[in-house]
Amino acid sequence: MVILVTGGCGYIGSQLIRDLAVEPRFQGITIRILDSMMRERYVSLMDLPSEGSYEFHEGDIRKDEDLKKAFQDVEQVIDLAGITNAPVSFERKDLTVDVNVTGGRKVLSHAVKSEVDRFIYSSTASVYGPTIGLVDETSPCKPISPYGETKLQAEKQCIEASKTSGLYVTSLRLGTVFGWSIGMRFDTVVDRFAYLACAGMPLSVWESAQREKRPYLHIRDSTMALIFALERNDMKGEVYNVVGENASIDRITSVIAKEVFDLKIVVTPSPNLNQVSYELDGSKIAGLGFKPQHTLEQGVWEIVDKFRVLLNNRTRRTFQPNVPSIAPELREA
Ligand SMILES: NC(=O)c1ccc[n+]([C@@H]2O[C@H](COP(=O)([O-])OP(=O)(O)OC[C@H]3O[C@@H](n4cnc5c(N)ncnc54)[C@H](O)[C@@H]3O)[C@@H](O)[C@H]2O)c1
Repeated sequence: MVILVTGGCGYIGSQLIRDLAVEPRFQGITIRILDSMMRERYVSLMDLPSEGSYEFHEGDIRKDEDLKKAFQDVEQVIDLAGITNAPVSFERKDLTVDVNVTGGRKVLSHAVKSEVDRFIYSSTASVYGPTIGLVDETSPCKPISPYGETKLQAEKQCIEASKTSGLYVTSLRLGTVFGWSIGMRFDTVVDRFAYLACAGMPLSVWESAQREKRPYLHIRDSTMALIFALERNDMKGEVYNVVGENASIDRITSVIAKEVFDLKIVVTPSPNLNQVSYELDGSKIAGLGFKPQHTLEQGVWEIVDKFRVLLNNRTRRTFQPNVPSIAPELREA
């Protein structure tokens, strides 16, 4: 069997290709990675677990000839490739549409032609846009960034393909991912704040955003959710929210402050922003038995641990696996 992971060298992909390889039930399968290397994460292909059987295709999801080769004998697909940075998506809107929507459509059509038996799409909580309160899968979607818009369009293409062609598609709307993987991103909030803290730089926080909640998900819980969806038989044509914790910026900085001494936070007065506080409701996938296993504390600790030497004696080393949540409101600014 061949599992195709598009965007397999990215932040989530680089962890997923490792987690798939060490799962006993996936022993003997070929993990085929298709990535254009636009984010140049060559490191993601280094020191792969010896249990895995891997193939790497450097290629572009917008090119039929690359997809044709990548889809040879594929039975299952986890589709992660895309332009993923929301601010960049404003500057490079055409590219974002081209990759996320047009490229996404091509991946789908090759999946239909190849009659794959599973297609798992990595959607995002950003599809909801400015909203308030508890958000479930039936809540209206009004994305504000080209990133969110294109992810919603691509998700709709997936669900439509499931109806028209019978393709078994599941879409997971992931919260913002945090925690360590070899293909790290540092452009999302928890990872960026943890890095800045380790580098001794101040965290800049908008006053209006301090207590606003957003959904977060540990990297290993994101890969476990993708594998969970791959193995089920009852998630066809459906979308699912996936969240570990709905947390405020205050909560995130308090967790970082537990690990790093002398954390500097600069609170910046900000205009009343469009985006308001919301929490993702993960009960639909929880009802099928999926339960996130990792906390914010763990994700922050993993990153701080990687910068241990740089931190010298500015770390507290407080995290212990399975500790209860740390109380919020520890802010040093
Ligand atoms: N990281 C998060 O917080 C988060 C949250 C919700 C959803 N997601 C979704 O999960 C998926 C993976 O996210 P990530 O954080 O790993 O992103 P990432 O940017 O780290 O990885 C994306 C990968 O896609 C590759 N890629 C880009 N354009 C390509 C193309 N035209 N052809 C082939 N490969 C291409 C890049 O080289 C990169 O390795 C994305 O679809 C993203 O929208 C991520």
